[in-house]
Amino acid sequence: MRIGILTGGGDCPGLNAVIRAVTKSLIRQCGAEVIGIEDGFFGLMDASPRTRVLDWRSVSGIAHRGGTILGTSNKSNPLRSPADTERTLANARALALDGLVVIGGDGTMSIAHGLAAHGLRSVGVPKTIDNDIVGCERSFGFDTAVATATEGLMRIETTAMSHSRVMIVETMGRHAGWIALEAGLAAAADIILLPEIDYSIEAVVRVCRTREAKQHYTVICVGEGAKARGADLTVQNTVPGSHDPIRLGGVAHVLREQLQPHLKSEVRATVLGHVQRGGQPTPFDRVLATRFGHHAAQLVAAGRFGEMVTLQGGALCTVPMARVADQQRTIAADDPLLVTAREIGVSLGEA
Ligand code: F6P
Repeated sequence: MRIGILTGGGDCPGLNAVIRAVTKSLIRQCGAEVIGIEDGFFGLMDASPRTRVLDWRSVSGIAHRGGTILGTSNKSNPLRSPADTERTLANARALALDGLVVIGGDGTMSIAHGLAAHGLRSVGVPKTIDNDIVGCERSFGFDTAVATATEGLMRIETTAMSHSRVMIVETMGRHAGWIALEAGLAAAADIILLPEIDYSIEAVVRVCRTREAKQHYTVICVGEGAKARGADLTVQNTVPGSHDPIRLGGVAHVLREQLQPHLKSEVRATVLGHVQRGGQPTPFDRVLATRFGHHAAQLVAAGRFGEMVTLQGGALCTVPMARVADQQRTIAADDPLLVTAREIGVSLGEA
């Protein structure tokens, strides 16, 4: 058996632990040959495919490393044109691949699902710091991102306190507020603004003013996809060729301008950005990534292509890739964590 493995979309702490677990499991359980494909689907689309054999040694000692040893891309899409699709399929045939293990988000799953219709089969492994994959309650990388964002918020708090400022900290997460909600709660932020709840500027001002009079400082955690009622998303830039070309970012600065005229204290904004995606995975993410990788190899061994490994109720299971493609799991209005935040007095910017 010859199986290709690739990482697609934005990188995420824990990818190397998946690559290691898939490779070692396939070698040990099936005597399979594992071919690493470089830079996501780009490595399979190129006129001469960019691949390397992954053996036991080449995946040893990488579980703790951030990023991906294979490289990744969020611009490669073999379905963009018939010529790209045909070249990708021809390369897969030339490499004698029996199937792929694709590690990625909803965009990667969508591409893999599309290629399956042309006969190139895949097993999926969900990856994203955003924790927004449908049918997956916890994706690896999220725990690391939350830990980093929490540390950022707590560092900001001490300086907010010293200067009696209102400090806004923006987290990643696209249209889902999971990172903002968990990091905000972990760091005891005073206000948490989420993409799922359009905030009222008046409500945020009110909380800041009350705190100006008592505690003298305020920490606001805002997810990059949040927006004021009636306002638009804050788009940082668009990336042509990307499966999802919109890149969010900068709402912290927008919020700063909305708040400053109404407050006596100085308002400052910090965008945490890619520090949330880089660096070593937490032990939790290493273990989850290893479990996902091992399970994906078992699916390959059982010929269960078209499925994506997932975590539900704390247990590993699978969902059809088709169900995951191009969708996002956002925070429901009755999510217990959201309810908890509200009921312990955290402002969610609601009127
Ligand atoms: O999906 C992961 C993520 O880090 C999002 O949280 C963020 O909006 C986006 O990727 C940033 O993408 P890029 O690295 O292309 O700017």
